[in-house]
Amino acid sequence: MKFSARSQAISPFLAMEFGKRAAALEAAGRSVVRLNIGEPDFGAPPQVLEAAAEVARSTPLTYTAALGLPALREAIAGFYLRAHGVRVDAQRIVVTAGASAALLLVTAALVDPGDEVLVGDPSYPCNRQFLAGFGADVRLVPTDASTRFQLDAALVRAHWSARTRGLMIATPSNPTGTSAPPAQLRAMCEFARERGAWRVVDEIYLDLADGDASGRPAPSVLAFDDEAVVINSFSKYFGMTGWRLGWCVVPPDMVPVVERLAQNYYICASTLAQHAALACFSPEAIAVCEQRRAEFAARRRLVLEGLREAGLQVPVEPDGAFYVYIDVGPTGLDAMRFCERALDEAGVALTPGNDFGESGASRHVRLSYAASREQLHEGLRRLAGFVRTLGLGPGSAA
Ligand SMILES: Cc1ncc(COP(=O)(O)O)c(C=O)c1O
Repeated sequence: MKFSARSQAISPFLAMEFGKRAAALEAAGRSVVRLNIGEPDFGAPPQVLEAAAEVARSTPLTYTAALGLPALREAIAGFYLRAHGVRVDAQRIVVTAGASAALLLVTAALVDPGDEVLVGDPSYPCNRQFLAGFGADVRLVPTDASTRFQLDAALVRAHWSARTRGLMIATPSNPTGTSAPPAQLRAMCEFARERGAWRVVDEIYLDLADGDASGRPAPSVLAFDDEAVVINSFSKYFGMTGWRLGWCVVPPDMVPVVERLAQNYYICASTLAQHAALACFSPEAIAVCEQRRAEFAARRRLVLEGLREAGLQVPVEPDGAFYVYIDVGPTGLDAMRFCERALDEAGVALTPGNDFGESGASRHVRLSYAASREQLHEGLRRLAGFVRTLGLGPGSAA
């Protein structure tokens, strides 16, 4: 069979490929610590599980409206107000099958073939695959530790061209766990807005991010750019990866456009998941999620400490998403080889930077600390042993 050029152009998602290899090793009787996937180990809050059981018993679970259950759209709007102090009209909130479907709708709505779009490198690979799938000319802008591996206003200005139509930013970032400073995010959005370009901001990790020095939560881009298109999800903060539920916030004139696309592409998000997700916003469920956020912060400290002791360097400490981007250059191995050998020799699954772009990709490895403390301790112990065999050891991190 002949497959489309579009489908051939998509490279495999290496995080999942390493997951497959890990599963094969486990099937052969090996023990593997899986730190390759960004999936909270907690699962959904108990209130959501109870709601799902009740809904499954009492509701026929027919399709919902393509834009989502009105009550859920209202509940998400309420969450923006309570958690971020931002008033968002529920009519602008579109419930989707995960952030992934939100990205699908939004790119389908905004991108014409040949449109140039600026995307930071490294960044979450699927976002740029959606753009490229709709014919965008994706311009990967190299970033490094000096800008926390994020785009900033100077980089956007330097890479902007007459053909640039949009800007796609994920903050906090996957794979680095780092956020763009709010002032920079604002400046980038203003720059794009003044030039009539769209801004898509993926805030899927926002509610896991650290607050500012005075304890205020990290702001949503909607606090200063009302026309930014925002992507979010129940996958990370609410721990509901497998429920396939997310949302986007779009400007009013874009609502009927994404509605048409959703109707045609997948009709609606899972009805069961939508009903159950209403329970996410109860004070009890939010308390559970906040406790988990604190747990992630503790795990982050544990991981940074363990990596330092192992002699591995982390150029920028994460402040949001549960990832650490490790510079494996000093080990003498490139990222791919480091991950292959860490898996084969030490039984630790990681993800090579090659998944996330080109800039510095072959010297960085992503570790996800969305795993239990027990698993993290064991993974770090194994990694330290592996790194010792490479001639690096305690105290060698700069
Ligand atoms: C930055 C980013 N955006 C989107 C997604 C997709 O998430 P979802 O499970 O909501 O489809 C992920 C998943 O890891 C991600 O890291």
